[in-house]
Amino acid sequence: MPGEPPGGLRAVLVRAKEAKPSHPAHTAGHSTLRTVRLGRTGSRAPAPREGVLKIIGKIVAAVLKKILAELRIHPRQIRHALNIVRPHAESNVGEALRLRAVRSSADFATENLSNALMFESPDELRQHTVGLLASSLSPPPPAGPQLKVLEFGVWQGNTVRLWAAAIGPSFTVAGFDSFQGLSEHWTGTNMGKGSFSLGGRLPAVPDNVELVEGWVDETLPRFLGSHDCSSVSLVHIDFDTYSPSFVALSLIGPILQPGTLILFDDFFGYPNWQSHGYKALIDSGISFDYLAFSGGGQGGHPQNCLIEVIQK
Ligand SMILES: C[S@@+](CC[C@H](N)C(=O)[O-])C[C@H]1O[C@@H](n2cnc3c(N)ncnc32)[C@H](O)[C@@H]1O
Repeated sequence: MPGEPPGGLRAVLVRAKEAKPSHPAHTAGHSTLRTVRLGRTGSRAPAPREGVLKIIGKIVAAVLKKILAELRIHPRQIRHALNIVRPHAESNVGEALRLRAVRSSADFATENLSNALMFESPDELRQHTVGLLASSLSPPPPAGPQLKVLEFGVWQGNTVRLWAAAIGPSFTVAGFDSFQGLSEHWTGTNMGKGSFSLGGRLPAVPDNVELVEGWVDETLPRFLGSHDCSSVSLVHIDFDTYSPSFVALSLIGPILQPGTLILFDDFFGYPNWQSHGYKALIDSGISFDYLAFSGGGQGGHPQNCLIEVIQK
């Protein structure tokens, strides 16, 4: 067995038995305590018993590691589980709220997401979405580039560039943003109104991205009146808060087709998650199935969720 000391487990147990202290004081609880205190002064050599305990600890760790490997459980999953149950979590309001958010999100997943894929992190779900988007592309349209993706919330352009690269130059992305930051407080987080402001400065984006600058309730109706959106395959909702997410989802309702994907960047997993993107989705009345979600990442922080429109 890897990590097993020379002589194997049996030899260690024999050594442990032989190492039994000869002085009666070592067997009494109060005397053991005294020994430990002496140890803190740095003047004592480690008792043979401590050495044995150390070896046993190493063996237990090696055996546990092997069992986890057999069960295909990554030590990181154990760490997450311990983070959730560690006792001091409840001694801090923020930690307690994050813990409740994790639990309510897990309950929600148990009830609603049993048919959906689970990814380790929001980024992994984005990559999965990229794959679905790429496979949804029809042959390049002869009549010039076709609008494929709508992104609501562009900020510095990281995700808009991801979609743009996935679809290539024959297809386009429209990215909506005020570039003035959030239009309302993102309650449950420390992102207040105005967070993410670029002061109106637009990020650099590839040629197949059209940036639509301004508040979504003003820009989206004009955009929908002047663009053919019938080939849109993916909508990315990353406005963070309820109101603009609800406006976007309500206004695009008529252009959604069965099979259109909608990725919510901040769906659940953080305090007050029930009041933002998730609520906007439910209030919009869109009919959908859950396809995938991220369940890992940093505990108590937003996780994303991918849905598919099932009817108009
Ligand atoms: C979290 S950032 C988007 C991040 C981006 N998708 C990325 O992954 O890098 C949210 C963006 O939504 C924009 N936003 C929020 N409310 C808006 C509204 N009512 N109208 C237009 N843009 C808005 C903000 O300006 C901000 O840039």
